[in-house]
Amino acid sequence: MKIELDGPRLTSEIEALAAISDAEAPAVTRIVFSSADLRARSWLKARCEEAGLAVRQDPIGNTFVRWTGSDPMLPAVGTGSHIDAIPNAGKYDGVVGVLGGLEAIRALQRGGFRPRHSIELLMFTSEEPTRFGIGCIGSRMLSGTLSADAARQFKDSEGASLDEVRERADLGGELEAVKLTRDYYKAFVELHIEQGPVLERERIPMGVVTSIAAPASLIISIEGSGGHAGGVLMPARHDALCAAAELILAIENAALTSGAIDTVATVGICEVFPGAVNSIPSRVRFSADIRDTDLERRDRAMQKMESAGKVIAKKRQVRIGTELVNADAPALCAPQVVEALSESCRRHNLNFLPMVSRAYHDSLFMSRIAPTAMLFIPCRNGYSHRPDEYASPEDIVRGTLVLAETLAALSQ
Ligand code: GLV
Ligand code: MN
Ligand code: MN
Repeated sequence: MKIELDGPRLTSEIEALAAISDAEAPAVTRIVFSSADLRARSWLKARCEEAGLAVRQDPIGNTFVRWTGSDPMLPAVGTGSHIDAIPNAGKYDGVVGVLGGLEAIRALQRGGFRPRHSIELLMFTSEEPTRFGIGCIGSRMLSGTLSADAARQFKDSEGASLDEVRERADLGGELEAVKLTRDYYKAFVELHIEQGPVLERERIPMGVVTSIAAPASLIISIEGSGGHAGGVLMPARHDALCAAAELILAIENAALTSGAIDTVATVGICEVFPGAVNSIPSRVRFSADIRDTDLERRDRAMQKMESAGKVIAKKRQVRIGTELVNADAPALCAPQVVEALSESCRRHNLNFLPMVSRAYHDSLFMSRIAPTAMLFIPCRNGYSHRPDEYASPEDIVRGTLVLAETLAALSQ
């Protein structure tokens, strides 16, 4: 079978989706269940229905788009990613895997292919942690990693609970129904931009992901004492922001001194109370995101951070509280799915690199219920989570072609 992709249509769909955004172009902001996200979801549903595919949503809004196979009782072969986007993001993160997955299915349909196992495109809810502080809510729930009870405790920054937000998005049903059985998928494959510089630097068009790094995330609260910026002399201060500054550098240092380049730590949110020029900060709340390819090393970096916090709290006479949001294990990709992707690359003489994914993805959780692997394409300068994120149409089409062939092979 000859697979012919409609590259121009795929490019124009990526542009059309990018235009459904709460940020001024070229930036994209699409926070889960915002009106932009809901409009993007209906736009996507219409594209899927145009392709003659059956669309259903589960109670958390994960969207399943099914091309029924000739043996519909068999486990499906899944592909997909997310369309939510962090504030001031780009057009390609997640979107390439969703729209590439849709185009892969359409190309197989046009080529006259008939799958035996159904092929299912999945659009996951809230891969990004922006609204509820934790990423991969949809795939955590599908895989049974996050319970319905725990999810019901989530609140957004306005105090709205996940159930309230779901209700406003017209999502009925009980969260208990989201979890999938272990035999739902025969295999799962996610196409994604690399979000790092390796493929471009090495001039290799394809990355076949063999493992996904272990992410952890914490919220740290520091309580010091406030006061007048003129009246309180320096020896009498317990400035929460100065304590935070010291702890943030200690977090950076924990990653820098782990003994491996694979340990990374980021503080991306820092809220200061009361937030006035002439008032000593009395409270600070900040996020810490710590990752590593090696679970033990990541945990050692977290312990170092905790010890530094104790020393700083004592020295500066402030209270430091830590809330663990998530600490996930890394995932190993399934050899048979890695091989199906590699085989397609070889068939097209496409050089490929076995890679670790340093970003997390819904595949981290899908790997717990299905044999899973990922395919990476290069992105310019390795940029991602910024408006100048870019993947070329040629790379996107190549990735989509390998995805289509892999879905065809796995669905036989
Ligand atoms: C996903 O967006 C990540 O932060 O790795
Ligand atoms: Mn992202
Ligand atoms: Mn992503």
